[in-house]
Amino acid sequence: MKLWGGRFQKNTDHEMDDFHSSIGFDHRLFREDIAGSRAHAQMLARQGIISQEDQQAIDRGLASILTDMEAGRIDFPPESEDIHMRVEELLTERVGEPGKRLHTGRSRNDQVALDMRLYAKETAAETMAAVRRLCELLLSMAEAHVHDIMPGYTHLQQAQPITLGHYLMAYFQMFSRDLLRFENAYQAADVSPLGSGALAGAAYPLDRAFVAEALGLSRITLNSLDGVSDRDFLLDYLAAASICMMHLSRFCEECVLYSSAEFGFLAMDDSFSTGSSMMPQKKNPDVAELVRGKTGRVYGDLTALLTVMKSLPLAYNKDMQEDKESYFDARDTLLQCLGIFTDMLASATYRTDVMRRKANLGFSNATDCADYLVRKGVPFRDAHRITGELVAYCLDQGKALLDLEAEELARFSPVFSDDVYEALSPEACVAARDIPGGPAPRQVLAAIEAGKALLRSIPVHEA
Ligand code: ARG
Repeated sequence: MKLWGGRFQKNTDHEMDDFHSSIGFDHRLFREDIAGSRAHAQMLARQGIISQEDQQAIDRGLASILTDMEAGRIDFPPESEDIHMRVEELLTERVGEPGKRLHTGRSRNDQVALDMRLYAKETAAETMAAVRRLCELLLSMAEAHVHDIMPGYTHLQQAQPITLGHYLMAYFQMFSRDLLRFENAYQAADVSPLGSGALAGAAYPLDRAFVAEALGLSRITLNSLDGVSDRDFLLDYLAAASICMMHLSRFCEECVLYSSAEFGFLAMDDSFSTGSSMMPQKKNPDVAELVRGKTGRVYGDLTALLTVMKSLPLAYNKDMQEDKESYFDARDTLLQCLGIFTDMLASATYRTDVMRRKANLGFSNATDCADYLVRKGVPFRDAHRITGELVAYCLDQGKALLDLEAEELARFSPVFSDDVYEALSPEACVAARDIPGGPAPRQVLAAIEAGKALLRSIPVHEA
């Protein structure tokens, strides 16, 4: 008979067992479930709601179940419905009568909310460690490349020269914002709902604060209806995860482009590349492509849970059991993507020689040419037109701006003199953009220092 079978005359249909059972995926919460039960039982005994002997039997039983589950010695049959019932049924099998007292003053509704919060808090901490690792890698790579010129793009057309250090720091900014979002998800999860009961709290003198503290949770929920029906803390994580995957997908897209022969900016390490079964020359950037592709599933996970929660009346509804698979999938996907992407990036080599050469070829110094003319007294509109004509001439001749002879330049404007070659070098173009947030090496170094300080200010949580 089911643990809740008292008012039923018939067993559940087999199809029904399979349909509503969540144990196939929620058994992953066994550690959290057992930790929550041990704290709950300890509190019940302290409050005189159960006896010390019962509590000790319960604790011993739960400890042995934990050991057996860790060792993979326990099965999770669909008839057990969910992890909460499985643990309780094993406990009663092992310790008898005291096991039946464990659920005093508790509902599976506040129990599952607690389990998910403990799990989500741990997940946020793990994710923060992974994002931090990527941020630290970006800082050290950026530091090594503050002087290395590369073409900067808008519309994927060469626009103005920047440095590789500046480029990498753009990604640092994105991932450091992600880190703050995961910190927010961590704080959101760090609350104990136990004592909310099924929806209306409990008529026992439960010490909610004691349970929270025993479980390392900072606060307790302040409304029992909300306590059992809130899944915002999962959505906070999923939203942060979606944005983080979006950032990864943009970086990946550029890794794919940059490792093509057409760009030639990035050489992936063999250990993170694959070959083709047919084309012997191929070296494919599979990691970057797969991470880019997996972004879709994480968005899907967010959309799934938002949709599950949409319009749900208070308080707990069985719909909410659907929170788990999406959440677990997003967690697994993101952690895997962050880990492998960081390893791939750490082992890849940016071809700074190729980047510098391409920055010279593609007219990315055209704005600086116009600025040069302006400095010589030409109105900006005219300077823009003259430079445009120069570019057209170069395209026709198959030359770069810096390839032009002094007398060719003179045909377009009398103000050009020999200092133009220095002024249009990509190094000069970059150095000229010496304002906060700009690509001049001094500014990038300042951004790196600020980045390090930011990382120091974000808490590191034990995972
Ligand atoms: N397996 C359920 C879930 O994941 C646990 C809570 C069940 N509560 C209930 N009243 N049926 O949501």
